[in-house]
Amino acid sequence: MTMPAAAQLKNASLLRSQAHLDGQWCDALSGATFPVMNPADAGTLATVPDMGPDDARLAVSAAHRAFPEWSRQTAGDRASTLRKWNDLILENRQDLARLMTLEQGKPLKESLGEVDYGASFVAWFAEEARRAYGDVIPAHASDKRILALRQPVGVCVAITPWNFPIAMITRKVAPALAAGCTVVVKPAAETPLCALALAWLASEAGLPPGVFNVVTTDDASAVGEALLADIRVRKISFTGSTPVGKILMRQAADTVKRVSLELGGNAPFIVFDDADVEAAADGALASKYRNAGQTCVCANRIYVQDGIYDAFLAAYDKRVAGLKVGSGLDDGVDIGPIINEKGVGKIERLLDDAVRTGARITRGGTRVSDDGTWFEPTIIQDVEDRMTISEEEIFGPVSAIYRFSDEEEAIRRANDTPFGLAAYFYSKDNARIWRVSEALEYGMVGVNTGLVSTAVAPFGGVKESGIGREGSRYGMDEYLEIKYVCVGGLSD
Ligand code: SIN
Repeated sequence: MTMPAAAQLKNASLLRSQAHLDGQWCDALSGATFPVMNPADAGTLATVPDMGPDDARLAVSAAHRAFPEWSRQTAGDRASTLRKWNDLILENRQDLARLMTLEQGKPLKESLGEVDYGASFVAWFAEEARRAYGDVIPAHASDKRILALRQPVGVCVAITPWNFPIAMITRKVAPALAAGCTVVVKPAAETPLCALALAWLASEAGLPPGVFNVVTTDDASAVGEALLADIRVRKISFTGSTPVGKILMRQAADTVKRVSLELGGNAPFIVFDDADVEAAADGALASKYRNAGQTCVCANRIYVQDGIYDAFLAAYDKRVAGLKVGSGLDDGVDIGPIINEKGVGKIERLLDDAVRTGARITRGGTRVSDDGTWFEPTIIQDVEDRMTISEEEIFGPVSAIYRFSDEEEAIRRANDTPFGLAAYFYSKDNARIWRVSEALEYGMVGVNTGLVSTAVAPFGGVKESGIGREGSRYGMDEYLEIKYVCVGGLSD
């Protein structure tokens, strides 16, 4: 039996069971609600409004009304509100982390890490707000002056996933607010509580009504369609699957909205013969088993060169065997539950197909019990490139291992996918490090590291993994338009 979420928090105000529109906490116009479940025991943590298209349009109206005043604030004033928001997130980090583990399932130590990671985007963009410089361009005529101003794009919509319920919101909302935009967030139905807690802290930090609205819904497609059809929305930023990203991109075309898409990946993790075996095993473990394998940048295909194969597998298997599975709130747990039954079903389908077509499970391979959605940390060897497990994101604690013979083969096979989000490789050869980094067709490359995510670096993909970059100084560009001003008649 799940204890109500409010009873598990020191600051019970963080648990909101209403949506946040125009600075008000409100129910759906229809009065409908949906339950938020704890994936560790399938208990209900809270219920939240199940909003529809009309509620979504009200949120856009609020953001549209708030835009002129917010965008006119000085960058310094916006930065100071963002800094207060960052401070409040960090003051409440224990409660936010607990709330995240309750609704998402990840181990508490990872939730704490995500709260810090999420806050770091707010701190970073509070600083970047002051640096949204334009340009004065040498003019083509002596009686003219040419300026390039950078102005906020307007009302933005952020559609965010369940796997990082705080960081994926702050990574979009913080640069939008810093640039002077106003925002409507539609969080995943699995994890609305973290989004609402963030909205509460933002209003405590002094964010004016209408600047940051949260629409909760269990009907993502109806609400998404209404938001995308609204001419007042000038930008959509989405993190989620490639098929949904394609639908949103088509819908955005009708009103020519700007789009940022952070979509699916199929990350290769290459271990060359000259790698440090122990470091490579540590890196693969960190990349693969973060959030029980439920990230877009998790190692999806682990390619190991012939000469190091046995040594790497021995080191890696030892580490995977040591992973503790359990409730994210229990001490020492490394792997929490999979988000839902559908997620487990997908893992089982991919493994069944791989085994049927010749692969071998050498560790784990099944659910922990019939009760719940825990899945054993798994290793599957002799995987081939044309198996379904090689073409889809596994999104679970399963290491698919491939063999290769030389560098050219590794690069060719790593690039042989429509996706291009993150790639990783381990090597001690300097020339190879540059050669392979440049040859991999990915938006992000980790060299001798399995973790690349940080607020200071540009996160994003190429090919069908997305458009645009989040975090870093480039992250602000997504929320700013360039306006060219030509001042003429300056001759005397
Ligand atoms: C994601 O899985 O979408 C994001 C992961 C990250 O920011 O590291």
